[in-house]
Amino acid sequence: MYITTNKALIAAALALACSGAAAQTASSSPSTPAAEAHPKYGFGTNITDDDLKQFVSPLPDGRGLPSGSGTVMQGQKVYTQQCLACHGVNLEGGIGDRLVGGRGSLAKSSQGGAPVKTVESYWPYATTLFDYIKRAMPFTTPNSMSNDDVYAVTAYILSKANIIPDDATLNRESLPKVVMPNHDGFKPANR
Ligand code: HEC
Repeated sequence: MYITTNKALIAAALALACSGAAAQTASSSPSTPAAEAHPKYGFGTNITDDDLKQFVSPLPDGRGLPSGSGTVMQGQKVYTQQCLACHGVNLEGGIGDRLVGGRGSLAKSSQGGAPVKTVESYWPYATTLFDYIKRAMPFTTPNSMSNDDVYAVTAYILSKANIIPDDATLNRESLPKVVMPNHDGFKPANR
């Protein structure tokens, strides 16, 4: 008896939720022709070219990187304004992760040393850094930075990690050429 009542309640709630969503989409679709509800299900919208422009998904060889560029110096400004509060003056971490240092500590950890996992010690590809910052940082306002600012702050972090010189400029050509210290630290799992 108890179970039946519960099931009925859930079914009623679902029906309400679905009809609400359908009504909402139906009323908004005439004004936005590019974002019509899926005819079969009556909800959801088609992705537009503008939506896709926001989406960056670079591969390690640089395919998919957007245009734009940034220097280490510009990146220092971006870092100070938008990252320092969480990642620390020396990128040593705080609320956010430590970003530099620990190089070689992962391999040594099998001999009892403490592993320090950072962008410098762990990440195999520099393009991932651009991708991650663009889509996930700053933590409270992800995807809010221009591509120039993301290139710049990526350059700043990589220079603080002694991976690129402090007069470097990063863009879609130079970023994929950066060789990360742990690039060869990954082995394919032979399963
Ligand atoms: C409000 C605090 C906050 C701010 C501001 C912030 N971060 Fe973060 N960041 C975090 C937290 C928390 C994590 C860990 C997120 C997780 O593991 O899901 C993180 C993770 C990262 C990582 C991944 C580190 C790793 O080894 O996994 C990078 C890189 C990074 N942040 C860069 C930046 C940059 C660049 C900025 C400025 C543009 C920034 N963050 C601003 C809180 C912040």
